[in-house]
Amino acid sequence: MANRIVTLDEFIIKRQNDFSYATGELTGLLRDIGVAAKIVNREVNRAGLVNILGIHGAENSSGESVQKLDMYANDKLIECLSNSGECCGIASEENEDFVPLKAVASKNASYVVLFDPLDGSSNIDVNVSVGTIFSIYRRVSPETGECSLEDFLQKGVEQVAAGYVIYGTSTILVYTTGNGVNGFTLDPSIGEFCLSHRNIQIPKTGQYYSINQGYYSKFDLEMRRYIDNCSDENLRLRYIGTMVADIHRILFQGGIFLYPNTRKYPNGKLRLLYECNPMSFIVEQAGGKAIDCRLKRILDIKPQELHMRSSIVIGSPQMVDEMKAFVEKYSANPAFS
Ligand code: AHG
Ligand code: MN
Ligand code: MN
Repeated sequence: MANRIVTLDEFIIKRQNDFSYATGELTGLLRDIGVAAKIVNREVNRAGLVNILGIHGAENSSGESVQKLDMYANDKLIECLSNSGECCGIASEENEDFVPLKAVASKNASYVVLFDPLDGSSNIDVNVSVGTIFSIYRRVSPETGECSLEDFLQKGVEQVAAGYVIYGTSTILVYTTGNGVNGFTLDPSIGEFCLSHRNIQIPKTGQYYSINQGYYSKFDLEMRRYIDNCSDENLRLRYIGTMVADIHRILFQGGIFLYPNTRKYPNGKLRLLYECNPMSFIVEQAGGKAIDCRLKRILDIKPQELHMRSSIVIGSPQMVDEMKAFVEKYSANPAFS
């Protein structure tokens, strides 16, 4: 007998009792993010029609200005979260500062949501997968007033939920609330995310490494040696240039993704709050590991500012451990090969 379809909304409600403070607020919040994801998905799917609908920045035939997709996604997420009444503020890769949200029906909201509305935006014009990443924290400031910066500058380990959406050959939403990782595929015919990947476990090791090897000469010496080693071990290189898509592959097939510090980005390029923390929470929840190039666990880094960058090494637990051991050994004795 075929399995009964379980929709995202149904699943979230069933899992509500998993939280120590099961008040239904987080449930509503996740549902709202699911709605925003569907709206962004619709627009991403139409991206190829840009010449018909109007080029970004120009006016379309109705005289409305056409937004860049990352701004469109940003606005939709903010809109959906503003209406939810569960979110007291957001911070986004696309906004310089955090945005406090007004209380709905004078209810004090307990959560802040941080996101990268469109990840891999350089891929959008060439029909390659892009994504959305989100991260949710319980506020630490008093619930009576507006949210404050300290609500957003919490360590990744404090996340209560995180997830991503990949707009790929199928649109898939993957999320965790700290009790395993589950994936939902959008069925466009019914407009619902349906449970398709239950309790995702990352393979202990794998065949893939994923890094922008074009920057090879700009990496630190031990990183260059590690990359040489990946090649010596006949690992397969895959690099899409959309973090969500590269890590999605690794989550299912095993491997390691690295974005090290380079000469151009001495602290790495990816954003700690919008990219590294949520992806690290998900990967750890699936049994993987995530550290920076100084070999510190990503989720333990105390954020200094909203747009702080970090290097990252993330993926199958054995492969991250091996990378760490390799760098430790190499740094202790740079002469070894
Ligand atoms: P965004 O589109 O949100 O700015 O993120 C792009 C990020 C990430 O998705 C990807 O892994 C990385 O940039 C690619 O950077 P390089 O082109 O430097 O490899
Ligand atoms: Mn990004
Ligand atoms: Mn982005």
